[in-house]
Amino acid sequence: MSDENGKPGLSTWLAETRASYDVDAAGYAERVQGLLDTHPQLRAHLDVLADLVKHGGGGPVADVGCGPGYATRHLHDSGVEAFGIDLSPAMVAIAQRDHPRVRFEVGSMTGLDVDTCSLAAVVAFWSIIHVPDEAMPSVMAEFHRVVRPGGLVLIGFHVGDGIEHASTGYTGEPISVDTHLRQASTVSDWLRDAGFRLESVTVLRPDDDVPGAIVLARRQG
Ligand SMILES: C[S@@+](CC[C@H](N)C(=O)[O-])C[C@H]1O[C@@H](n2cnc3c(N)ncnc32)[C@H](O)[C@@H]1O
Repeated sequence: MSDENGKPGLSTWLAETRASYDVDAAGYAERVQGLLDTHPQLRAHLDVLADLVKHGGGGPVADVGCGPGYATRHLHDSGVEAFGIDLSPAMVAIAQRDHPRVRFEVGSMTGLDVDTCSLAAVVAFWSIIHVPDEAMPSVMAEFHRVVRPGGLVLIGFHVGDGIEHASTGYTGEPISVDTHLRQASTVSDWLRDAGFRLESVTVLRPDDDVPGAIVLARRQG
């Protein structure tokens, strides 16, 4: 695996994020179990993506930063050729255990082992939250590289400003991971700059302290 500059090895933030999710994979998986049943808006966005992909002729869809794989599984069960990619080998092992008919692999959105223009879509649900601002343009460029012209990206993230640091995981184990909060306009601008055109921007629970947002965009040319 290469870092965000294409050099061998991992930069500190990638290594810390991976190690933290390796420690906390089981705790995180337990926390989000059944999430699509209790959060129909999340499910609806995945369903819209699945419909658009199927009506656009199908093709592979990568769920990048898939975690325990529930979104990948939902897309797969919706008739989409979905597979999952995650930085954390422990998370990938849980996804494989829980969804044995779906393909999962270890990888990083900073340098995907995916052919250029080969995907119908990329999904990134609450995974760019661990990527620092300075690396975001190259991550968006990577999404643009792997998605075919006319293909889609669906990105979910926490809305806000600044960085939250976590030093304890869901199971109480020590971890070290940063979560970056962003305005929807910031993520939208990164997508436009990378060559995507916005299809929709949805803010979830805007009155919460930390709302969510889901942006759907289409690759131009
Ligand atoms: C908050 S979890 C979200 C998991 C899942 N998508 C969900 O919505 O529940 C963040 C996930 O992103 C993964 N991740 C973080 N940085 C990544 C990177 N550079 N490339 C791929 N996955 C990454 C983590 O290992 C973790 O599984």
